[in-house]
Amino acid sequence: MVTKPRLYSGMQPSADSLQIGNYIGALMQWRDLQQTYDAFFSVVDLHALTQPNDPAELRAKTRRTAAQYIAAGIEPSRSTLYVQSHVRAHAELAWILSTLTGFGEAGRMTQFKDKSQRYGAEATSVGLFTYPVLMAADILLYQTDIVPVGDDQKQHVELTRTLAERFNARYGETFHVPMPVIQQDTARIYDLQNPTSKMSKSAESDAGVLWLLDDPKVSAKKIMRAVTDSEGSVRYDRENKPGVSNLLVIYAALTGRQIPAIEDEYAGRGYGDFKKGLAEVVVAEFGPVRERALELLDDPAELDRVLATNAARADAVADRTLADVYDKMGLLRRV
Ligand code: AMP
Ligand code: TRP
Repeated sequence: MVTKPRLYSGMQPSADSLQIGNYIGALMQWRDLQQTYDAFFSVVDLHALTQPNDPAELRAKTRRTAAQYIAAGIEPSRSTLYVQSHVRAHAELAWILSTLTGFGEAGRMTQFKDKSQRYGAEATSVGLFTYPVLMAADILLYQTDIVPVGDDQKQHVELTRTLAERFNARYGETFHVPMPVIQQDTARIYDLQNPTSKMSKSAESDAGVLWLLDDPKVSAKKIMRAVTDSEGSVRYDRENKPGVSNLLVIYAALTGRQIPAIEDEYAGRGYGDFKKGLAEVVVAEFGPVRERALELLDDPAELDRVLATNAARADAVADRTLADVYDKMGLLRRV
């Protein structure tokens, strides 16, 4: 039997809806990669606890995120799509790995440095500090080969590799050392109103964010109002025309067409025409995704069953790794 190489990735349930950057930058790639990899995709709710959350809302966002994975084409019968907190081994391995992580080493993580500076020492939790260690546990439990992530997560995957190598050197070959696969620049989507900053679930203003679960009419309106420039020609130039370039990238990503072909199609036509064209593309792509997600959310019991089946599959792999780790470190086996 030929076994497929393994892939791991995840997203935090940090909003009611994913945005189009998550879709183009992550979900579309996950959907393709699940064909050739034995893929594990989690909704990392334990990571989300590093931000303040209303309990009922966290539960809702977790289901909503899972439903959007499925609606976007992650197949729960092919890939293992589950909720992180359903698999207890994550928290257990995170503790183990924290005993192998240097205080200074964790303190050098730039995401932690940025966030802790922003919140101040008293408002920064130890959980935020050990966030990358939990992420390492996610990845290492499944003997992962590749980890597709945005470049802001690259340092965390590097730490994961270091911890795997350290454990292996100290206790014997146990973990597979994973490779990061960093999303290309061409898959980065910017805010429609502020096209030099990344589109984000936590953007201050809603006007520049295209939500996967928005009514398609609302998305079309946002596209018609997207910031462009006064030149009037549909041309890719990230430096001088960030707004139009961003719209071209979205157009190309959703249609699978090359940017020059789209430029040609709209040569000599105004931005209004171009935006109308893009709005149609977006509505055609997200209309069905949204409908499917809402359908899944209409039957939460069935969605929970799917997630439970997948968590059981994840448990089986994770428990094996964890038992090996406990054994190698000298924790007495419970008979
Ligand atoms: P986040 O929403 O920041 O938790 O990101 C979850 C995933 O979506 C990561 O793989 C990100 O790289 C990707 N992602 C988030 N925002 C964007 C964006 N504006 N453009 C492209 N990819 C994005
Ligand atoms: N930290 C990642 C992010 O914010 C999410 C994440 C948690 C993750 N565990 C992971 C990504 C394991 C890849 C692999 O985007």
